[in-house]
Amino acid sequence: MITLARKKHVKVDDSFNTAEVNKPMQQHSVISELEHRRERARQGGGQVRIEAQHAKGKLTARERLEVLLDPDSFEEYDMFVEHRCTNFGMEDNKIPGDGCVTGHGTINGRLVFVYSQDFTVLGGSLSETNAQKICKIMDMAMKVGAPVIGLLDSGGARIQEGVDSLGGFAEIFQRNVLASGVVPQISVVMGPCAGGAVYSPALTDFIVMVRGSSYMFVTGPDVVKTVTHEIVTQEDLGGADTHTKKTGVADLAYNNDIEALLQTRRMFNFLPLCNKTGVPVRPTSDPADRVEMSLNTLVPESPNKAYNMKELIERVVDEGDFFEMQPDYAKNIIIGFGRMEGHTVGFVANQPMQMAGCLDIDASRKAARFIRFCDAFSIPLVTFVDVPGFMPGTHQEDNGIIKHGAKLLFAYAEATVPKITVITRKAYGGAYDVMSSKHLRGDVNYAWPSAEIAVMGPKGAVEIVFRGKYNGEEEQQALIDDYRAKFASPFVAASRGFLDDVIRPQNTRWRICRSLSILRAKDMKNPWKKHDNLPL
Ligand code: HXC
Repeated sequence: MITLARKKHVKVDDSFNTAEVNKPMQQHSVISELEHRRERARQGGGQVRIEAQHAKGKLTARERLEVLLDPDSFEEYDMFVEHRCTNFGMEDNKIPGDGCVTGHGTINGRLVFVYSQDFTVLGGSLSETNAQKICKIMDMAMKVGAPVIGLLDSGGARIQEGVDSLGGFAEIFQRNVLASGVVPQISVVMGPCAGGAVYSPALTDFIVMVRGSSYMFVTGPDVVKTVTHEIVTQEDLGGADTHTKKTGVADLAYNNDIEALLQTRRMFNFLPLCNKTGVPVRPTSDPADRVEMSLNTLVPESPNKAYNMKELIERVVDEGDFFEMQPDYAKNIIIGFGRMEGHTVGFVANQPMQMAGCLDIDASRKAARFIRFCDAFSIPLVTFVDVPGFMPGTHQEDNGIIKHGAKLLFAYAEATVPKITVITRKAYGGAYDVMSSKHLRGDVNYAWPSAEIAVMGPKGAVEIVFRGKYNGEEEQQALIDDYRAKFASPFVAASRGFLDDVIRPQNTRWRICRSLSILRAKDMKNPWKKHDNLPL
């Protein structure tokens, strides 16, 4: 069972101070009624249901907000809202607040709008009125330019309300779509999230889940069994591991509510408040001109030996603080946030330790969506490239690698934020073009001396170009060596101006910091259009 680490602080209404003592009796009674009503709302579905929530290892809606937000920063809206349903005796089943706690607060002093579904009230089900509460804070967030974080724990549409509840969902979906690219939206799924209800988190930028207590699916195990005769558990169908490892629907999974909320705070620190503010800047003690000698030996001598690209990112970012997104999905590409000279940066990097860093469908989709998030919110992109190409095979072709790979290409090509690329080793074929190349408006493109930029690897190239024209392995090796000497270096690309410089690995951090610093003034716009037609 989870216990709340922080001191529970029930905030008394500000107007209730000693000066009130002298006010007339009538006003006194209104104030005590106010406190009584507030206390009633805070009780949610009552002690028994709160204990049931705790017994499942879950915090209540209000306890979650206490962990998520800075102490005493939460201001609640619509505490007294009640539903208006009269079906099935619902007129006698009203709880102030109606199963959703909404308002605003701060995370490390920065404004955020929040809603937290209260499972103790009718299973946190979405009514017409609590949907209106959620819409109200979303509208406020859009007006003032601040992110929205939703804490989801709900049995879905309130069954007693029928279409009124469905309408409420659609009102939220519409706002999710309009807010996309305007304010960051984060969904923390901390309990059930089923049926059409899954589409609100799916429309938001990031989904965090809690292992063992949260799940997301369009239809639950019972319906699956009836329709397809498959027997599957809730966890396998839509648990946190399923969505962070298999489907990629969710970005991050944590072991309990507190960990999930504290990590959401950490993620929030990297994000701009909206698409107009630019990235947050935080003082750092890590010098921008730090030389990192250990990078000189990161890439092994053998081109076929793997190394951990995450180490490169961690040694380059401020204080080694890298917040990786989707760490358990499509591990052949790494995405996440870090800071350079205190400014938030989005990192994208091939991971040679997984499938040699090949681009496949999952990696393309994962990185494309991240790049588009960064571009929408003016977060500069730093790309580290070591990619032998797109993943071959019928599985990839049958599932549409052409369309999915195009998403990544599209995302890089349309992005107008500062784009810095460092090729550490392989940049072969179409993948060279795709990975933030100069040709896709890369602003500053560097390569390490170990870089090999070519249409394909030397062995494959020789087998195609010289097929039937060499005798034995020795002659083939000579041709491979010749090809490598000619193309498998950074200098051909550098001689064309496709690379701005070949840099020593040890200088990577300060070269990137300096480039980002000059690119802060970058102002680039794409041609006017209603919207683009991303290959979906
Ligand atoms: C009204 C609901 C409710 C709902 C749960 N409750 N879901 N009330 N509408 N959708 C109430 C229960 O009656 C119960 O009330 C309390 O919440 C807790 O529920 P339990 O079943 O006791 O909890 P648990 O065993 O933990 O099971 C949770 C659950 C289950 C798996 C979520 O309640 C469930 O299957 N609910 C229905 C889910 C569903 O089919 N929703 C509609 C999905 S379709 P008391 O008074 O006993 O505490 C949908 C469409 C959206 O959402 C469309 C958008 C486009």
